[in-house]
Amino acid sequence: MARYYDASWQRTMKCGEPRKEDAGKDIVLNGWLRARRDLGGIIFIELWDKTGVTQVVFNPEINAEIHEQANSLRNEYVLSVKGRLRIRPEGTENPELPTGAVELLAEDFIIMSPARLSPFEIDDDTTDNVNEDLRMKYRYLDLRREKMQHNLKIRHDVTLYTRNYFAKNGFTEVETPMLTKSTPEGARDYLVPSRVNKGCFYALPQSPQIFKQLLMVSGLDRYMQISKCFRDEDLRADRQPEFTQLDFEMSFITEEDIMTMFENYLAGLWKDVAGVEVKTPFLRLTWKEAMDKYGSDKPDLRIASAMVALEKVFEGGENPFAGLVANGGTIKGLLVKGGASMSRKDISVWEARAKDLGAAGMANFLAKDGELKGPLMKFLSEDKIALLKELTGIEDGDALFIMADLNWKKACEILGQIRLEVSASLGQVEDGFKFLWVTEFPLFEWSEEEGRYTAVHHPFTSPMYEDLDYMLTEPGRVRSRAYDVVLNGTELGGGSIRIHEPQVQELAFKALNFTQEAIKDRFGFLMDALSFGTPPHGGIALGLDRLVMLMLRAKSIRDTMAFPKNQKAQCPMTDAPGTVDNAQLAELSIKVEEEL
Ligand code: AMO
Repeated sequence: MARYYDASWQRTMKCGEPRKEDAGKDIVLNGWLRARRDLGGIIFIELWDKTGVTQVVFNPEINAEIHEQANSLRNEYVLSVKGRLRIRPEGTENPELPTGAVELLAEDFIIMSPARLSPFEIDDDTTDNVNEDLRMKYRYLDLRREKMQHNLKIRHDVTLYTRNYFAKNGFTEVETPMLTKSTPEGARDYLVPSRVNKGCFYALPQSPQIFKQLLMVSGLDRYMQISKCFRDEDLRADRQPEFTQLDFEMSFITEEDIMTMFENYLAGLWKDVAGVEVKTPFLRLTWKEAMDKYGSDKPDLRIASAMVALEKVFEGGENPFAGLVANGGTIKGLLVKGGASMSRKDISVWEARAKDLGAAGMANFLAKDGELKGPLMKFLSEDKIALLKELTGIEDGDALFIMADLNWKKACEILGQIRLEVSASLGQVEDGFKFLWVTEFPLFEWSEEEGRYTAVHHPFTSPMYEDLDYMLTEPGRVRSRAYDVVLNGTELGGGSIRIHEPQVQELAFKALNFTQEAIKDRFGFLMDALSFGTPPHGGIALGLDRLVMLMLRAKSIRDTMAFPKNQKAQCPMTDAPGTVDNAQLAELSIKVEEEL
């Protein structure tokens, strides 16, 4: 009689479930053959499903025929095995496995599906080192691992918690279109040709930004969406062309309401899903403070050291930086705890790195044997040396790196980068989760490439009212009502209070040098909407993939997505993007000029 998968072969337990107390039970397990060993004429296999593995034993003395058939079994075959659970013989228990006290003595089995030889070993410890394109080509095999299953489960737990939290807080989930018009988040759009409207294109959304604002005009009051976003930009470990945002918007609120709502959410989420206590309120730094102390708008606070301003030490006198200070230049110091043990060579490597990053050089002081040493010492008076010590807190055994530049931002950014790299190389990055808010970003930044000011966040971000007068005269000094939430040196999310007055929106478009036609063409509908009664509103979007990556301490957001793209924005499994046939192109009136 043909033996096929019917109800009698359905599992009565999952592979991760059998325990000591179950010994003596007749059970059925379904799963994948994970590992096989033949020992003294007995065949042992591990049967895997996402709940775990159970050892199965084929013993010729119990059933010679079944044992004989088991000889043909290979890794990744899908089996159903019937038998009796028993306590493992003394000395053969595996205390590392939850099922390690028992084994299933096989009485019968069927092969539900054989498997070809896998292109890589499916194993939590080694598969991470397999070429990533190969892992992606056979993504379904890569996902057949406990670790990847765990990542997907955590991602699910995060979205479930999120929906529940915000539903309790009066948010309504609304889907917004995927086929839409270009949204101005600053990256290139993915375009979709319209067959019906020849020569016209939809853009896939870079974010639901404009729609969520329009929902506030509608009176929805509190919006949320777990939304796919698309950005055609260069890829990195924390960027994908297609990613997911946890997206929110609220009416009749200020920054305070948003920050409180979201830090409580994040603390609750970390407790619920990761089992980690996170303290609230989060630290808040203005953009200027973040740049001054950490040289970054997304400071990593797992590193204790911060930069200090040293202009006072070098102003006046004969030292080489006195002129720079007189001209309004910046001098920053970075304390490297225990850094005095660095060799001359180590120090010159860091100097070279600073030059690579664009610095003219990087000076240093070393505190050794009770005194401060360094090429700049001879230029400093006793008083100035005392001031240097006071400002930096340098103690015996420490090093101090000094960065001087006429350009404040450049000095901060270069030394900020050195801070990250030196701390990593000295193992001085604490474990844990360090959240903070960065606020008061500049509203605009000058773009050399475009020869105009561009929006740092997006053009709907409200300026701080105190700075409104500079919108057209000195756009570079206008601060915005934008905020980013930063975790361990990565931007987790960003948002802002929006402009709700049409005249302020028009001013912002003007500062960005948009012509009246461009405003009308691209944002006419938004300007219209703002004129029909708009509540003060604001919101935020968190990168779901990044959030899960940071929570799991994964190296890449690709490990948090079921089917990611590679660094060239391709999917090695489906071979997307691919060419299409001419008939399909003709229907869209598209002609390809250059083939691959
Ligand atoms: P923003 O552009 O800052 O804001 O994006 C919000 C968050 O989305 C994540 N993110 C990405 N994640 C993976 N791959 C990418 N390519 C990528 N790009 C962005 C980041 C980022 O912090 N509409 C505004 C939000 C608002 O103002 O409410 C927006 O999209 O974690």
